[in-house]
Amino acid sequence: MDKMQAETAAITADYVEPLLLTQGWAVIRDAVPSEWLQELAADFSKHRHEFKAAAIGKGRELNPDTRGDLTMWLEETDPRNIFSYLECLQQEFNRRFFWGLKRFECHLAIYPPGGGYERHIDNPHGQNPRKLTFLAYMNENWATGDGGELQIFSDDGLVLTEVEPRWNNWCFFLSENFPHQVLPSTKDRQSLSGWFRHDLHI
Ligand code: OGA
Ligand code: MN
Repeated sequence: MDKMQAETAAITADYVEPLLLTQGWAVIRDAVPSEWLQELAADFSKHRHEFKAAAIGKGRELNPDTRGDLTMWLEETDPRNIFSYLECLQQEFNRRFFWGLKRFECHLAIYPPGGGYERHIDNPHGQNPRKLTFLAYMNENWATGDGGELQIFSDDGLVLTEVEPRWNNWCFFLSENFPHQVLPSTKDRQSLSGWFRHDLHI
């Protein structure tokens, strides 16, 4: 493991640990060096044609009214800095919470103008293979009024927080506990979405 990634992951974990324990979600600004995100953000133009409309649920149906993003899954063997940072973060969480995380998966997502993602939970009904959701936003010069906020809800439907998708803003929440939605934006909205999982590959 790279020392810089391990140190950065420890700093992130120090910050989010008490928040995950008390409220189950955390928002952290500028979690990683900007260059690490830039390495990923290059894929949005470089691999633009590989982004596919994202499907929902068991039937994997497409419904742009419910979910408007285009996604590209990243390889688990991706050698970039963010990946070793996320590996270190997984170790930190296992050490601190005994979660027994086995792996993570993630995709880049782009929401074209007017696209959002209606309220949902990141696990199939009755199953919780995904323990922790993470999101990193990659939009320079995002302004209030551009929309695209992530809203996280309590069980009884109150908005607990609203996260603006600004460059290097990160959000973590316990996947099984928090319904959430993405509000439509007025311009392209770019992000990394991922999940730390309990299960190995089948
Ligand atoms: C998802 C999701 C939220 C966001 O990809 O499941 O809820 O803010 N994304 O991009
Ligand atoms: Mn989600």
